[in-house]
Amino acid sequence: MVTASVTVRVPAKVNLQLSVGPVRADGFHELATVFQAVNLCDEIVAREPTGPGIRLTMSGEGSEALPLDEDNLAYRAALLLAEALDVPADVDLHIHKAIPIAGGMAGGSADAAGTLLACDALWKGGASREELTELAAALGSDVPFGLQGGNAIGTGRGERLTPVLSRGLFSWVFALADGGLSTPAVYAECDRLREGRSVPDPYVSDILMQALASGDAELLGKALHNDLQPAALALRPMLGQLLEAGEDYGALGGLVSGSGPTCAFLARDEEHALDLAVALSGSGLCRSVRRAQGPVPGARITG
Ligand code: C5P
Repeated sequence: MVTASVTVRVPAKVNLQLSVGPVRADGFHELATVFQAVNLCDEIVAREPTGPGIRLTMSGEGSEALPLDEDNLAYRAALLLAEALDVPADVDLHIHKAIPIAGGMAGGSADAAGTLLACDALWKGGASREELTELAAALGSDVPFGLQGGNAIGTGRGERLTPVLSRGLFSWVFALADGGLSTPAVYAECDRLREGRSVPDPYVSDILMQALASGDAELLGKALHNDLQPAALALRPMLGQLLEAGEDYGALGGLVSGSGPTCAFLARDEEHALDLAVALSGSGLCRSVRRAQGPVPGARITG
């Protein structure tokens, strides 16, 4: 008997800019962010179930620490989609992780986005992109971007996306830290550091848009900016040394990725990225390094 299965690959993201505005009434922060999807991908396989319900298994570095029930965003994605399609939530899901866990690269969100796509195909739900995007936004701020990929401006809490075109591919080195950082804790620290100051509305940098449009890595390196960085550095001071080392080794720019602790360094090209990766991995300041390029497409069915 042949068991039906669907395989989806879904990329990580880096925020080229993360402008964090005031806290909203719902507790989220108003954002203006520029996402780029990079080819560091998780793989999701949805199979016809061997029994009723959702059975989730995971593999890849650090995945043994992740929950396999409703505390896992991918599990909730399958449940939410089944409810929306009015089908039984029966699926065997396997996720192989390459995106660092709790690293500020939206790995959990990517898995949720990939699960929506994989289960819709397995269950022959026929949901439109718009319907999947709406479900994605209900699951988390970064989930819609996991579906869309490429480059995009995110507004609202990050879930309202406008695609942005860019020229060519940018080469990145990601320095992975030991352990993760909790996104709510980093936002809370950001609020604490800003206490008593008026917080301007979030904005997108014109220079950054220009750098993307022209494919100018040098300019993009200078325009990288993350308002959550001071908070991530306050919680994990050694990240300051790592960012300095990246600059010393010739990165065009470096920043904490999202809420961290992964740091992203922009290189001139793939050869430069290789040199930078070797230097950073020898620095003793990070657990390991990964090279990746962006922008790449969002979640897609590969088998
Ligand atoms: O939407 P998501 O579940 O990814 O958000 C995780 C947490 O990050 C939220 O509970 C909130 O503490 C914080 N957050 C925020 N403002 C945003 C996005 C996330 O405060 N725009």
